[in-house]
Amino acid sequence: STTGKVIKCRAAVAWGSKQPLALEEVEVAPPKAHEVRVKVVAVALCHTDAYTMSGLDPEGSFPCILGHEGSGIVESIGEGVTEFKPGDHVIPLYIPQCRECKFCKHPSTNLCGKIRATQGKGVMPDGTSRFTCRGQLISHFMGCSTFSEYTVVADISLAKIDPVAPLDKVCLLACGVSTGYGAALNTANVTPGSSCAIWGLGAVGLAVAFGCKQAGANRIIGIDINSTKFELAKTFGCTEFVNPKDHDKPIQEVLIELTDGGLDFTFECIGDVNTMRAALESCHKGWGTSVIVGVAAAGQEISTRPFQLVTGRVWKGTAFGGWKSKDSVPQLVQDYMAKKLLLDEFITHTLPFEKINEGFELLRLGDCVRVVLKY
Ligand code: APR
Ligand code: ZN
Repeated sequence: STTGKVIKCRAAVAWGSKQPLALEEVEVAPPKAHEVRVKVVAVALCHTDAYTMSGLDPEGSFPCILGHEGSGIVESIGEGVTEFKPGDHVIPLYIPQCRECKFCKHPSTNLCGKIRATQGKGVMPDGTSRFTCRGQLISHFMGCSTFSEYTVVADISLAKIDPVAPLDKVCLLACGVSTGYGAALNTANVTPGSSCAIWGLGAVGLAVAFGCKQAGANRIIGIDINSTKFELAKTFGCTEFVNPKDHDKPIQEVLIELTDGGLDFTFECIGDVNTMRAALESCHKGWGTSVIVGVAAAGQEISTRPFQLVTGRVWKGTAFGGWKSKDSVPQLVQDYMAKKLLLDEFITHTLPFEKINEGFELLRLGDCVRVVLKY
C-alpha cells in the first residue's frame, strides 16, 4: 500500500507563464491532518486554468500544478479525517464548505472563508505544499491541482459522490456546468414563463440555458459571435439566437425590440465588461435581473448609468452558481444519474492526459465546449 508514503506520479507542471505545461514526474507527500490524498481519474480543461497559464492571474504562483475540474478516488486520509475512506469516489471543490465559518452559516452564500487565504497563496491550510518536482516545491492551485495523477486536498474541499457515477463525466460538475446551472436556478431564480438571454454559449452559458429550461422559462435567447454554437445550444434549451455581428446597432437595442421592452433575466457568460453592461441594459425596466457569471480579467471595471438601477433593474453575480459545494455536488451527480441534468453533451473532446497541451490548443480554437482528459 502507498499509505503514509510519498507517491511518485505524472503531473503537468506549469513552470512559468506563457509556456506549455511540462509533463513531469512529481513527488506527492502523504496527507497531513484533515487532508485527503486523491487518485485523479479525469479532469476537464477550463478557461481559468488557461488564464493562469497566461500569467495575467495575480493569484498565480509558479511553479504550480493547475487543474480544478476533476474527479477521482481517495487513496489515503490524514489524521482526523472522518468523512472519507480509501476507495471513496470524490470531486475536489475549489470553493470548500467548512460548515463553521460565518459564510457557511449564512443561507445566502456559498463563499466559505475558512481556507481562502492559504488557497489563494497556493499552499495547503497549514501553509506548506505537498508537491515537489526536480527538488523544487511546487504550488497548489485553487485548492485542487487536478493536473496530477495524485493530489492532496483539504477534507473541507472534497465531496463524496455516488461510486456508480462515471468519473469522466461528473468531473464537469466541479466547475463550469454547476456554475451556469446554479446561476439560473439559485442566483437568478428564473421563473416559469419568463424570458431569458445568455451571452456566450460555452459550457457555462449552455448550462445556464439548461437551468432556464428546467425552471420553465418560455423564451431562451442564446447570444454568441460564433454562430456554429447555435445548433448545440438547442439541445440545452435555447429557443432563439442572436449573433451581434449580424446587427449594426447595439445588442441591447436589438434585444429590447425583440422582447417588447427587455428580458426578465439575462446572464453574462463570457467575462467581458462590455457584454456585462449590454446584459444589464437588455433587462426589462422595473424587474429585469442580470447575473454576471463570466470572470473578467483582474483590474477590469463595470459601468452603466445609475438610472438603469434606479428604474428597477437588478445587477447580481455568482460564484460556483451559488451552490454550497459539499451539500450540492453529490446531489448534482444524482440529478445527472437520474437524467435530470445533461453532462455528456458538453464534452466535445476526450484525450489521454499526456495530450494536455493539445487540449488547451483545442480550447483556444473556439469550436470546442469541454475537453476531458483521462489518466
Ligand atoms: N459577444 C458574444 N459572444 C461572445 C463574445 C461577445 N463579445 N465574446 C466571446 N463570445 C462567445 C464565444 O464565441 C464562446 O462561444 O462566448 C463563448 C464563451 O465560451 P467559452 O470560451 O467556451 O467559455 P466558458 O467555458 O463557457 O466560460 C465562460 O465563464 O468561467 C468563466 O472564465 C470563464 O469567463 C469565462 C466564462
Ligand atoms: Zn466555511
